[in-house]
Amino acid sequence: MSGPGGDGPVNEGRRRFLTASTLVVGAVGAGVTAIPFIKSWNPSARAKLAGAPVTVDISALQEGQRLVAEWRGQPIWIVKRSKAILEALPTLDGMLKDPESGNPDQQPAYVLEANPELRSIKADISVLVGLCTHLGCSPEMVAEIRPAPFDANWKGGYFCPCHKSKFDMAGRVYDGVPAPTNLLVPPHHYVDDNTLVIGVDPQGAA
Ligand code: FES
Repeated sequence: MSGPGGDGPVNEGRRRFLTASTLVVGAVGAGVTAIPFIKSWNPSARAKLAGAPVTVDISALQEGQRLVAEWRGQPIWIVKRSKAILEALPTLDGMLKDPESGNPDQQPAYVLEANPELRSIKADISVLVGLCTHLGCSPEMVAEIRPAPFDANWKGGYFCPCHKSKFDMAGRVYDGVPAPTNLLVPPHHYVDDNTLVIGVDPQGAA
């Protein structure tokens, strides 16, 4: 498995992703409408494939919405989580393989400083590589806290239908599924409240 800055395996899921648009906003909560993405700026396609950082304006991202960017040919999910989702995360610890994110390959250390259950620099904003750590498909987001066909006690998260791997809204993998590790958190930092850079650690980060 590659580290936070590495590339994952090339696979069908990624190829499918690459055929899709590179920057979209999707609603993640019931009753929430997708919004147009107002501003973003990115390097050229050639630079992105080479691994150049991607800068994203998240000022239009509302609670319950997901923005999908692309970095190194991978989908990067940027999700603004609700208070209810944040409160649900600690209640899931007993059902997870690595609830405190003890595997250092799956996230930079600085995203664990505030709270290992959140796996994020900002409490509400989650930044994840949207590829299952089993075979690399891009899981579905099922963000609502309500019984799901695959889990009667579902608290929101990501579900990979091909082999039924499940992750919570921090990308932490459930016990008893094929995916071996939590979803990858890419290197990233905030230039200001509304400007996120994917691919570069915060200044001074270990
Ligand atoms: S690739 Fe589908 S369960 Fe992981």
